[in-house]
Amino acid sequence: MTDTTDTTDTRADTRADTGADSGLPPRPPEPPLRAKVRLMRTLLREPAPALDELRREYGPVVGLGTWPARMAVVGGPAAIREMFQAGADTYRWGHRFMFGLRFVVGSGSMIVSDGEDHKRRRRAAQGAFSRPRLDDMVPMILRRTDEAIDELARSTAPGAEIDLHPFGRHLIIGITLEAFFGPRIAARVDEISALLQSSQDFLEAPAVQQMPQPLSLRRRGRVRADLRAIDRIVGEEIELRRGDRGAAREDLLQSLIEDDSLSEEEVYDQAMTAMGAGFDTTSATLAWTLVRAGRSPEVWSRLRAEADRVLVEPRTASPSEPSTLTELSEARNVVHESLRLHPAGLFATREAARDVSIGGFTIRRGTLIVWSPYLAGRDEDSWTEPLRFDPDRFNDLDADQQAQADQAWIPFGRGPHMCLGFALAQMELTLTIARLAQRLDVTATSTEIPRPFGLVVNRPTGGAVLRVTCDVPRGGS
Ligand code: HEM
Repeated sequence: MTDTTDTTDTRADTRADTGADSGLPPRPPEPPLRAKVRLMRTLLREPAPALDELRREYGPVVGLGTWPARMAVVGGPAAIREMFQAGADTYRWGHRFMFGLRFVVGSGSMIVSDGEDHKRRRRAAQGAFSRPRLDDMVPMILRRTDEAIDELARSTAPGAEIDLHPFGRHLIIGITLEAFFGPRIAARVDEISALLQSSQDFLEAPAVQQMPQPLSLRRRGRVRADLRAIDRIVGEEIELRRGDRGAAREDLLQSLIEDDSLSEEEVYDQAMTAMGAGFDTTSATLAWTLVRAGRSPEVWSRLRAEADRVLVEPRTASPSEPSTLTELSEARNVVHESLRLHPAGLFATREAARDVSIGGFTIRRGTLIVWSPYLAGRDEDSWTEPLRFDPDRFNDLDADQQAQADQAWIPFGRGPHMCLGFALAQMELTLTIARLAQRLDVTATSTEIPRPFGLVVNRPTGGAVLRVTCDVPRGGS
């Protein structure tokens, strides 16, 4: 893990912000000053209502902030597509506002890199996400889900009210650790999960508390100590593998160690990136999926019927044929629909490296572009009854409808920095929700949909609370 001072050359545009450039489209509309200040503040504390208001009141592309922190919020699906279509060198991901993330994942992480460095770092990790590698993970994901449910059954009374978010987080962390770092590291899931908490809290804190300044020294010190402890755990595993004392594995860590193009520090930074990017995003989505599916007895029983058909007894059998996932179409749609309404990141950012035209407006060089899969997923021109949870909406689409849905369904982004774990996350979510529906009876304790909270990772306020009974005997099962 590296912690370097931000030396990014932002080349921020210092021209007076008049928007009077000849030959360029106009600058995007902006809220009046007072509303702008209020919306900026809300966006950085509770993004969902601010994003909703910006889209509703000002349109698909809105200017916010002012130099040197000029921002543009892009929420219309067509505008976001146009943004994705501009070449990678139009944007910078290693920008000056990434100081908090860079502190956690290290300055050698792909997620805060650009150009050739980004390509090299991403390429080193990519093999671990190939389809055959993912297919090999299916039995392990089911086994871990079964073990977690067995433990839940032992530790809770039938019909107890349980927040399934921490349950799901623990499960997803275990799955991801075993998949990427092997069983020895996965056995330390409790320790690693606790060590990751401080960096999650740090990234969710207001930006000023993330900056290197006297008041944040303690918080940063705690995060740094926990990250070093994780580095030590990863380092021990690397030593064991280099000493040939562990069986050779085909996983992310092995791909990183064997890639000669990476420095030692870059290996650690990509490892930390996988942990940072993979756990809380996926477990927050599982929580939202449980919130939504758990409120619909019809959806839950369809998930169960499908799982009974596809994930056959004995429960720990290895249905590793790739067809398993294809056959879980109900579960896939439920996950897809949850990601549409509740993407793990309500927004993601990149900086304009040059003037760029988006949605008929000029976004000036140096502007922080805040694009929102949340707004695209709720866009009224793209989705029928956008706020309704309807997993069947993805069935039987004609070519035009499919193109429209593809444009507006973007929880994982697109382009050179598109989420590397997109297929893994969807596979984990599809298998876990199917197995949970197969083995748990659930009743929602409230019909209300919780408010989203979290700046970096969108989670349901209050968690995913359901009344749960495990393994109720069923006729013929
Ligand atoms: C539901 C779960 C997830 C969601 C919604 C999600 C979403 C995203 C988004 C929106 C981005 C940024 C795209 C951009 O800036 O253009 C991203 C990047 C990334 N995600 Fe995910 N992610 C999820 C799970 C995972 C998992 C399981 C991993 C596995 C390690 C992962 C690894 C990454 C990495 C490495 C990047 C940076 C890629 C790059 O910079 O080239 N994510 N993700």
